[in-house]
Amino acid sequence: ARLVVLASGGGSNLAALLAAHEDEAYGARVVGVVSDRPDAGALDLARDAGVTSVAVSPADFADRAAWDQGITEAVEVFRPDWVVLAGFMRILSPDFLARFPGRVVNTHPALLPAFPGAHGVRDALAYGVKMTGCTVHVVDDGVDTGPIIAQAAVPVLDDDEESALHERIKVAERSLLVETVGRVAREGLRVEGRRAAIG
Ligand code: GRF
Repeated sequence: ARLVVLASGGGSNLAALLAAHEDEAYGARVVGVVSDRPDAGALDLARDAGVTSVAVSPADFADRAAWDQGITEAVEVFRPDWVVLAGFMRILSPDFLARFPGRVVNTHPALLPAFPGAHGVRDALAYGVKMTGCTVHVVDDGVDTGPIIAQAAVPVLDDDEESALHERIKVAERSLLVETVGRVAREGLRVEGRRAAIG
């Protein structure tokens, strides 16, 4: 299966997928990496791995709608079977999602539906939960609201602050994402209402 990965940051989740895809048995290959940020470390990782990458920066477009069209076209070019959001920090439009219906998945560093949005780790810490984690879900028109495919639990330690907790979550998140994307790519995904099941 052909994967396109969207990332805005350092790309440690992307790095994990690039390592996994070296194995033919994984059943999926990252064929393209797209970022909204020209300086994203994820773009460097892609280049180092010999994977085509492209930056689609809002600064290069007249308005949000034009940017949305731009990123849709940039992703379409790669003919993805699955679009994986791995630390992508922008909301994709219904038009984008309609181009890849049911084929866009996201990883979020909290146990959805708890703590959606851009500060899930900080919000979980502030709330005082003893257990948080990460979620791989289908992207729908909401923010972090689509059907859940897989989750992993990560304990919160009493002396945790945001970056330590986020790093602990990312260890679990990287392996959950690699495992889940591989299984979905090899076995497919069935979604019935809010219930998503692999196979
Ligand atoms: C991940 O925890 C992702 O869930 C969140 O931002 C982080 C990105 O990390 N949205 P990286 O860029 O993959 O290292």
